[in-house]
Amino acid sequence: MIIQKSANPRISNFDLENFSFGNTFIDHMFICEYEDGKWGEPKIMPYGPIGFSPAMMGVNYGQACFEGMKAYKDENDDVFLFRPEKNFSRINKSTSRLAMPEIPKDIFMEGLKTLIDLDRDWIPKGEGMSLYIRPVIFATEEVLKARISNKYMFAIVATPAKSYYAEPVSVKISDHYSRAANGGVGFAKAAGNYAASFYPTKLANEEGFEQVIWTDDIAHEYFEESGTMNVFVRINDTIYTPKTSDKILDGVTRDSFIKLAEKRGIEVVIGDVRVKDVVEAFDNGTLKEVWGVGTAVVTSVFKSLGYQDRLLTLPVLSDEESFALSLKKDLTDIQTNKAEDPFGWRF
Ligand code: COI
Repeated sequence: MIIQKSANPRISNFDLENFSFGNTFIDHMFICEYEDGKWGEPKIMPYGPIGFSPAMMGVNYGQACFEGMKAYKDENDDVFLFRPEKNFSRINKSTSRLAMPEIPKDIFMEGLKTLIDLDRDWIPKGEGMSLYIRPVIFATEEVLKARISNKYMFAIVATPAKSYYAEPVSVKISDHYSRAANGGVGFAKAAGNYAASFYPTKLANEEGFEQVIWTDDIAHEYFEESGTMNVFVRINDTIYTPKTSDKILDGVTRDSFIKLAEKRGIEVVIGDVRVKDVVEAFDNGTLKEVWGVGTAVVTSVFKSLGYQDRLLTLPVLSDEESFALSLKKDLTDIQTNKAEDPFGWRF
């Protein structure tokens, strides 16, 4: 791996206690290019723009996908990743569906470890703090024929993060738009999935909702995801979450929540979550919580659900009463090395 260090590191002028998510990047980035059927030499270089043509295939035809993962720093300044193998295997499920080349494990893991180690000073410490890492791969060939690209760039950039959507939010249960279709790319972290979600989200924002609960594309009968996250519903003391499928992302946080809930002895039902059942549970007083989980935000608690002309206002629970917040704490304590790691998730 070529390592070209920045001559002007910006970390000394960056306030790691006071920043907003996603717009300042660590001093370095990792890149590796693919051409003629093979990967080139991996490189770490100063973070910055790289010139590309507007005729680049990734921009025109959307062959692009990414991952979201985090690095955490504990009280002793030791640095941990969380279940990075899951992100490695998932990015290759996404690349495979988008007819992009597989990223070799050594390129992904060595690039990740070397980059984060080099810029470890950028990892903020403390409650809810982490470094959000974005591995991304996109087609770089300059050709306007609609076909599979022959050239790609795999890159890793990272940005300091604190909790994102921390306040409980109001969400709209979609009865028109959907984010995924049977046989489509919903399970992949395809860039286009996010592009397609922005317009319905904008309409929901105009109605006063922060996010959309995505429902199926047939009759909008079943919950699928929420915003950029997987979704969980608690009715009485049972948790329900949709089963992963070709329409639903196999979230690392989702999987971790299921395992942590089961460890606490909470019943988790993985299967169809019907809008009708959620509304009925609200009407009979058994709907306790609905929340989203994802790497960036960890947990987004919903205070109300808009459904057609109704607004279902959920009960306000204390941190201890809330399954969403108790499980979030179980998870973040493991991630930040404040608790035992019974599943061997820290890396
Ligand atoms: C994540 O939780 O990693 C996401 O996918 C959210 C991201 C689009 C900001």
